[in-house]
Amino acid sequence: MKFHIFTFGCQMNVCDSDWIERALIARGWESASESGAQIFLINTCSVRDKPEQKVYSLLGRLRNYCRNRPETWVGVGGCVAQQIGRDFWRRFPEVRLIFGPDGVASVPDSLERLQAQPDLRISLLDFEDSYLERDAVPRAGGAAPQAFVNIMQGCDNFCTYCIVPYTRGRQKSRPSVRIIQECRDLIDSGVQEITLLGQNVNSYGLDAGGDGTGFAELLEQVCTLPGLKRVRFTTSHPKDIAPDVIEAFSRFPALCPGLHLPFQSGSNRILKRMNRKYTRESYLEIIQGLRRVRPDIALSTDIIVGFPGEFDADFRQTLEVMQEVGFDNSFSFKYSDRPGVRAASFQDKIPEADKSLRLSLLQKEQDRLTQKSLQGLVGRRLEVLVEGPSPKTPPDRGTSWKGREPGGRIVNFSDSGQDLTGELIPVKIVDAKKHSVFGEVDNT
Ligand code: 5AD
Ligand code: SF4
Repeated sequence: MKFHIFTFGCQMNVCDSDWIERALIARGWESASESGAQIFLINTCSVRDKPEQKVYSLLGRLRNYCRNRPETWVGVGGCVAQQIGRDFWRRFPEVRLIFGPDGVASVPDSLERLQAQPDLRISLLDFEDSYLERDAVPRAGGAAPQAFVNIMQGCDNFCTYCIVPYTRGRQKSRPSVRIIQECRDLIDSGVQEITLLGQNVNSYGLDAGGDGTGFAELLEQVCTLPGLKRVRFTTSHPKDIAPDVIEAFSRFPALCPGLHLPFQSGSNRILKRMNRKYTRESYLEIIQGLRRVRPDIALSTDIIVGFPGEFDADFRQTLEVMQEVGFDNSFSFKYSDRPGVRAASFQDKIPEADKSLRLSLLQKEQDRLTQKSLQGLVGRRLEVLVEGPSPKTPPDRGTSWKGREPGGRIVNFSDSGQDLTGELIPVKIVDAKKHSVFGEVDNT
């Protein structure tokens, strides 16, 4: 069978889609281009209205495609699937499989059953009480040198704007022995960099599924695994980041000096309405602590503009925090009503024009900060983990490679030698572009 997977949204979805793809290939299925596939899987995101709308427009396009080809059909997974559920069957007859985030482990079996029984439809929408293990599937030879490892599912925080606790369910930690075993297997297969994944990794182990291991301890176990060169983790919540985790940035050479720490708003009044449970001051203290132990740490964040009740004065405080920290990168979004979340019922919504203006001011400021951050790398010699050939090859400079420095920023460099994918190469940075830097191999 030939299948094609479309993935929207966060790294959890990317990781889930990657597992489904490998599991299907292990069963003899073939990953195909969109035009060559018989089965389409869409892994969806509903964190904001925009990604959700993209799913519907893709489904509309696939409906036309499947209408004239009776052997083709669609499976819809992820957060929109969990939210809409079996209603998809009414609206999109070509959809035969619906699976929520907790249904991923059963997708390969379900697809085989659906293929064998043309009149069958399956929904996998139940939430599990504990973390559901998936079959181990080997990675193909020559696979990317980085991998994601899930350490938990779901979220218990109920930030008032966020749909995730409803679509991904309550927090469920994965037993630490299983995490460590997966990391060991990945290292044996040649992986150099592991990113620990979860909706709120800092509260790892604090739910009923915990085995007594907290996040700081898990991080230590992973960072000290023999043969592993780089460790990252995401996403972190400022209210839960423990002093031990901050200290880890100076203790473990494998822990990369980069952290994504969403602050969402610089106004304490808005943070309270968001139910974030930290203040602007406590957030800034964490940043100071991180810089004390790791002055070169690269910092990125998420910001929401136009949350209900956000005055210009609140927005200015957000801009101030952004400037005070000097983020290397940020992801900013206009507040978007999500069905069933508490903020959807807040009365004082912000007009679209104000949200757009605030977003553009913020993004302009971030462009300036990003430039400053990238310029700051010029002249430095950094170790780059090569991900593959760069699409931006300057024609006169031989093969160009793309990779990331320890802070996570993209580095392109030229080398006429053999395939460098998966290697750690010392690179001297010579130039800063808009979203990346350019360098030369420096073996001195
Ligand atoms: N509207 C806008 N942005 C949102 N995010 C989550 N929910 C919403 C929403 N309803 C943003 C937050 C979060 C990121 C993944 O998406 O900034 O950190
Ligand atoms: Fe959503 Fe807040 Fe949980 Fe992040 S921590 S997934 S923003 S509820």
